[in-house]
Amino acid sequence: MSNTAISLRDLPRLRTRNLAQLGGLLRPGTHASPLLELGERFVVTPPGFPTMLVTHEMGDVRALFANHDDFSIGQVLSRFSSHDVMFGKQTMIFLDGAEHRRERRLYAPPFQTAALRSYEELMVEVVERELPTWPVGTPFEFLTAGYDLAIGVLLGVVFGDVAPARRDRLKAAVSGWFGEIESRGFLAVTLITPFIGGYTVPYPPLRRRQNEVDAVVIEEIAARRATPGAASERRDVLSRYIGTDLDQHDDAALARDMRGILLGAYETTAITLGWIATMLAGHPAAMAEVDAAVDAGDTDRLDAYLDAVVAEVMRLRPVSPFTGRRALRDTEINGVAIPRGAIVIVPILLIHESERHYSEPMAFQPERFLDNRPSTHSWLTFGAGAHRCLGAQFALAEARILFRTVLQHRRIATIAGPMEPPRRYHTGLSPADNARITLLPR
Ligand code: HEM
Repeated sequence: MSNTAISLRDLPRLRTRNLAQLGGLLRPGTHASPLLELGERFVVTPPGFPTMLVTHEMGDVRALFANHDDFSIGQVLSRFSSHDVMFGKQTMIFLDGAEHRRERRLYAPPFQTAALRSYEELMVEVVERELPTWPVGTPFEFLTAGYDLAIGVLLGVVFGDVAPARRDRLKAAVSGWFGEIESRGFLAVTLITPFIGGYTVPYPPLRRRQNEVDAVVIEEIAARRATPGAASERRDVLSRYIGTDLDQHDDAALARDMRGILLGAYETTAITLGWIATMLAGHPAAMAEVDAAVDAGDTDRLDAYLDAVVAEVMRLRPVSPFTGRRALRDTEINGVAIPRGAIVIVPILLIHESERHYSEPMAFQPERFLDNRPSTHSWLTFGAGAHRCLGAQFALAEARILFRTVLQHRRIATIAGPMEPPRRYHTGLSPADNARITLLPR
C-alpha cells in the first residue's frame, strides 16, 4: 500500500443515526438521495458490521472490478445474506483467485455467444406452450408468467430432454426447492443473518429440498454417462460436460453446480421479464414502435428495438441495485487504502440514474441504446470484472427472444398513470403488484 493513499478515516462518514438513508440507494429515485451531499465516496461503520466504503467514483469502481486477487464477492454475500447456504460455498461465486478462474473456464462455454443460437428454438417453444394459459383482455400478473417462462427455458437449456418420469420428478423437486427458498421460515433465517455476523442458522427443510434435487440430477448424470455417445449429440448444458474435457467434477459436484446455475438464473430472469412487461405497458411510444415492427413483419427491426428496450429496463430496474467486494488483505483502489475485511459497495442503481452517465436519466428511452450498446463501465446490471454474471449474454438474448415471440402473438395494453413501484421489503428490485398488465389479441 502506498504512503500517499487516502485513508478511509479521511473520507466523509455517514452518521449512524442516518443509516436508514442507505435504503434510498436500493429504490429508484437515488438521484434525490441526501447521501449525494457526502460526495462520490463515503464510509459507513454500522455497529457490529464491517467498515464499508460506498463509492460511485468511476476510477474506484473500475479499479475495484479490475482487482480480482485482493477482493471477494462471496464474502460479501455470505456476510449479508444466506446465499452461501442456498448455493453451497463451493459454487463459483464463492471462489476467488485461481480457483475461481479455473471453475469459470469450465462453466462459461455453454453461455457464450457461440452456443446461444442453439437455445432459440427451445425458448420459442416455451412461450408457445405457456402463452395459451395467459388471459387475454383481463389484467394478470406477468411476473408469474415470467417465472414459468424462466423455469421452462432453464430446465430445457440445462437438462434438455429427460425421460418423462424423471423429468416430472425433477420438476417437482426443483419447484419444492424454490418454494422452500421463498418460504417464511427461510426468509426469517435470511433476514437475521446480517445481524449475527453473517452466520446462517441451519435450516434443515432447505437442505432436504436441495438433496432431493441433487438426487434426481445425479441419477440423470449416471444415465447419460451410461450412453456417452448419445450425450455428445445433445446441445443442453449438462450434455456439454459429460465425457468432455470440461467434465472434471464428480457427479455430486456437477449436480450441485447445475443447481447453482438454476438458482442464479431463475429469479433474476423472471423479475427482469416482469419489469420489461411493466415498462412496455407504461410507455405507449415504445409499444407503438414494437407494434409497428411486428405489423411490418420486420423481425430485425423488432429485435434491434427489443435489445434496446431490455438494456433500458435493466438500467432503470437492475434486479440487484448494488454489488460489492470484501478486501481479502490490505490493499488499495485508485489511491484509496482499503484495509483487510472492509467492504466496498458499488451503488449500481445510483450510477444508472446519474446525469454524469445518461442524459435525462430518469426517462425511459430505449432509443439511447439503439446505436450504442450499454457501456461496460456505467451499465452494471450484471456487475463487472472477473465475477461479472456468467449468464449475461444468455439473459439478454433470452429476454429478446421471449418477448419477440410473446409480442408476435399478443399486444400489451398501455397503462396511463404512475408506473408500478418496486416491492418494499425486498432486497432486490421486484415489481410490487407482480407486473400487472393486460394482454390483447394481435
Ligand atoms: C436478468 C438476469 C440476470 C441478472 C440481472 C444477473 C445478475 C448478476 C449479478 C449482479 C451478478 C454478480 C456480478 C458482480 O457483482 O460482478 C451475477 C453473477 C452470476 N450470475 Fe447472473 N444474472 C442474471 C442471469 C443469470 C443467468 C441466466 C445465469 C446462468 C446462466 C446466471 C449465472 C450467474 C453466475 C454463475 C454468476 C457468478 C459469476 C462468477 O462468480 O464468476 N445469471 N449475476
